[in-house]
This record gives sequence, C-alpha cells and structure tokens, in this order.
Amino acid sequence: MTAHVDKRSADDEIADLGTAEHHLQVRQTAIYVYEWPVRLWHWVNVAAILVLAVTGYFIASPLPSLPGEASAHYLMGYIRFAHFTAGFIMAAGMIGRIYWAFAGNVHARQMFVLPFWSAKFWREVLIEAQWYAFLRDYPKKYVGHNPLAQLAMVTIYSVGSIFMIVTGMALYAEGAGRGSMFDMAYDLVIPLTGNSQNLHTIHHLGMWAIIVFVMIHVYAAVREDIMSRQSMISTMVSGWRMFKDDGK
Ligand code: HEM
Ligand code: HEM
Repeated sequence: MTAHVDKRSADDEIADLGTAEHHLQVRQTAIYVYEWPVRLWHWVNVAAILVLAVTGYFIASPLPSLPGEASAHYLMGYIRFAHFTAGFIMAAGMIGRIYWAFAGNVHARQMFVLPFWSAKFWREVLIEAQWYAFLRDYPKKYVGHNPLAQLAMVTIYSVGSIFMIVTGMALYAEGAGRGSMFDMAYDLVIPLTGNSQNLHTIHHLGMWAIIVFVMIHVYAAVREDIMSRQSMISTMVSGWRMFKDDGK
C-alpha cells in the first residue's frame, strides 16, 4: 500500500484555517441604548419599590404589638415614615422619568408609548411570547425593549406606578389634613372609590400587580441575559447593548 501523500502545502493548510476562523469569527457590536438618567432612575426606583412593598405589607398587616408603651419604640411610625419617604422618592423619580421621555433618546420613550396601530408590533409581541414559551428556537434581536417587554412596561408598570402614586398621595392627604397640597389627589380619587377603606384596598391590590410585574420582569431579564442574542442586565448598568452575533 502506498502512503497517502498530501500534496497540499502548509500554506494551503494555513489559508484553510484562516477561512475557518474567519467563518467562526463573530463581530461584537455595541449600541448605546439607555442614557444615565434612565439607568439611575431604574435602580433608585427598584430600591424605592422594595422599601414600599415591604413597609406597605406591614402597614396592612402590622406586627404583633411590642411590649411597653408605643411611644417607647414607635415601630409602626418608622415603618410608615419609610413608606412615605420611599413614596415621595418614587413620585419625584416618575416626574423626572417623564421629563426624560421628552428630553432623552427614542428608547427613553418606549416605557410610555405603544405603537398600537402597528401590525408589525403585534406580530412581534406574538413572536416574543412564543420565544418565552419555548416554542421558538431562535430569538429576534432588539436594540431597545422587545415588544412584549414594552407592552408589559406600558400597561402594567407605567399605568400601575402612576396609579400607586395617585392613590398613595390621596391616602397621604388623609393624614396631612384638609387644606394640604395633597387634597388634589384626594379630591380626584375619593369620589371614584367612594370611601377611604376602598382607597386602601385598591392601593393594596396595586401592590400585588407591581409585585407580579417585578417577578416576571426579573425572571425575563435573567433569562434573556442567558438565552437571547444580546446583553441585558449589564445594559441597564452601563447603557451599552452588546450583541452576541452579527446575524439579522
Ligand atoms: C422593583 C423592581 C423593578 C422594577 C419596578 C423594574 C422596572 C423596570 C422598568 C419600568 C424598565 C423599563 C425602563 C425604561 O424603559 O426606562 C426596566 C428595564 C429593565 N430592568 Fe427592571 N425593574 C426592577 C428590577 C430589576 C432587576 C432586579 C433587574 C435585574 C435583574 C432588572 C433589569 C432590567 C433590565 C435589564 C431592563 C432593560 C430591559 C431591556 O433592555 O429591554 N430590573 N425595569
Ligand atoms: C409601588 C408602590 C407602592 C406600594 C407597593 C405601596 C403599598 C402599600 C400598602 C400595601 C399599603 C397598605 C394598604 C392597606 O391595606 O391599608 C399602603 C398604604 C399607604 N401608602 Fe403605599 N404603596 C406604594 C406607593 C405609595 C406612594 C407613592 C405613596 C405616597 C406617599 C404611598 C402612601 C401610602 C399611604 C399614605 C398609606 C396609608 C398608610 C396608613 O394608613 O397608615 N404609597 N401602601
């Protein structure tokens, strides 16, 4: 048997390797998406909502009484104070965030607007839902929020948080008394709810809507960081979206 003689030169091998490497090579592209006010708002708001949900829960279901005079520990007072402080941070943050929707880039507006009449948008909402439900193998690429995320952000988060701020301010007005600047919220909301007890109840129910949003949102952010074709959590830290491949 004659030995197989490879007539290909070392240069050919190197050239082949080069081509293979060229095919394997992926170009890393990055786009600046979330400007600093959006990122700062996001993380301050996360902290405020955590405080609001924990303290709100205890306002509704107070801890068993502590021994001694209430004035000796003032526990519920501190819990309510933390709730109101975080509430005002959340409200001021939302005013700043709305301002930035006008002053910032196109992605700063996504949280407040839905391309409702765009058939393409709704088609992509469906595609994203299929991707989240493990019915698609390959995700699409988005520079800003994906359409399903945008739908949840506008309808659950933006509407829900403004609802919590308005009802929270109306509740605060009850403590601040007639003639306070919070009367505006009180006069707007009480005729709709009928009484203060219903106002407490809908503010409380709103908390669970926000909590469900946050649970799904954090799951989606981690899942997309791992499974999608782009960076996710680091994008809300640095502002840059990085893509794992340069396909369409
Ligand atoms: C109280 C908790 C949270 C709330 C209420 C919340 C709310 C939001 C909202 C409203 C947006 C849209 C931002 C905008 O367009 O300006 C957003 C984006 C984002 N959030 Fe959160 N978030 C929370 C916690 C978190 C946590 C813990 C993480 C990380 C694990 C996270 C990761 C992200 C990411 C990566 C984006 C950008 C998503 C994208 O590019 O489509 N969030 N969040
Ligand atoms: C995501 C945001 C918020 C959550 C999750 C939340 C949650 C809650 C909950 C669960 C309660 C108890 C309701 C009950 O069953 O009686 C409550 C009460 C209250 N919240 Fe909020 N809240 C939020 C935002 C706000 C804001 C922005 C304000 C405005 C300052 C506010 C002011 C109040 C007031 C004044 C009360 C009544 C306190 C009392 O009766 O002692 N909340 N909140």
